[in-house]
Amino acid sequence: MTTQSEHPALIAFRQQSPVCREGGSPLSALILDVLAADFVAGGPVHRIAKGWGGRAIEDALTLRLIGGLHRLVLDGSAPNLAKHYPSVGGSPTESLATDVIQTVSDFEAVLRIAVTQQVQTNEVGRSNALLGGFLAIAELTPKPMLLLEIGSSAGLNLFWDLFSYSNETFEWNAIQRDVVLKTDWSGSAPACLSVEPVIVGRAGCDLMPIDIHDDDACRSLESFIWPDQPERLARLRGAIRIARENEYRLEKADAGPWLTKELAEPADGQCKVIFHSIMWDYLPKTMQDDVTAQITQAGELATESALVAWLRLELERPSVYPMLKLTLWPGGQELTLGTAHFHGAWVKWSKG
Ligand SMILES: C[S@@+](CC[C@H](N)C(=O)[O-])C[C@H]1O[C@@H](n2cnc3c(N)ncnc32)[C@H](O)[C@@H]1O
Repeated sequence: MTTQSEHPALIAFRQQSPVCREGGSPLSALILDVLAADFVAGGPVHRIAKGWGGRAIEDALTLRLIGGLHRLVLDGSAPNLAKHYPSVGGSPTESLATDVIQTVSDFEAVLRIAVTQQVQTNEVGRSNALLGGFLAIAELTPKPMLLLEIGSSAGLNLFWDLFSYSNETFEWNAIQRDVVLKTDWSGSAPACLSVEPVIVGRAGCDLMPIDIHDDDACRSLESFIWPDQPERLARLRGAIRIARENEYRLEKADAGPWLTKELAEPADGQCKVIFHSIMWDYLPKTMQDDVTAQITQAGELATESALVAWLRLELERPSVYPMLKLTLWPGGQELTLGTAHFHGAWVKWSKG
């Protein structure tokens, strides 16, 4: 029999708290500690966790619950909790624990529904690293790019060329001010900052795509941003504005079958750029093999007038941080461009 201290929900709260603290969200860590204590005390958190049918650790119960609380704050439904949340202009005070538990108690029914919703994010900060890859492609070929993203979420990184980048090493696209991406960049600047990539199309797929024209879906994306990281929230909102003003195609589809369709014909006069960030681990091994085979096959058929590029920012063990890799066909040369923080807070560029 599982004892209280071994209950997966309690283990999940206790594991996630240091992850949030190390990930730059001390407020989330504090809230998780409060939720864990309430679970032990048999309060409303205990009832919500016990009544939930999912797997606490694997299905991220903790992130669902703190996302549910953040949603109440963003919606203006929980002013007592809001006063602790920097995302709405607050700042944590000594009454945080009391206000968290009071809110969980007041909104127990709402939170029971909230924890049934999967965590869904779209991290625009990853474009800090992806930019270097796109510029490397533009430097290697002047052909216009057709962007094809798998695991796009809301597809916001499809607009990487409409963001502005500013760090101690370089600036790029400083004229666009809706989303200014800042990062701690180390190593040289990406090659050829003066190239001007031309984008001829933007398309993506996801098993659970977020419709950026749906306010409720956008609020849900916002709620999964940690509440003491207002700069992430600001860039998400800026990117949503950009996406709403520009054309793109986002389909609800599994990566493998979607690529089969998108790679069926070569794009004459263009470079098809297949890219993805932090989605590879979600694919079963058979799907990873299928996607790799499809891209490689399309690459082998590439010509100087119909190129294929594969850019990915993914965790490749034993590295503990995502690596940025690029393969460009014809030729199939693979380049390791650098490593990056999961949300793009830093980029270590390794290519000259
Ligand atoms: C951690 S999110 C990353 C989203 C986005 N790439 C980013 O960097 O912000 C992983 C995404 O992969 C999607 N995903 C998982 N398996 C997938 C599959 N088989 N086909 C397409 N998308 C998938 C998920 O729905 C989710 O939106």
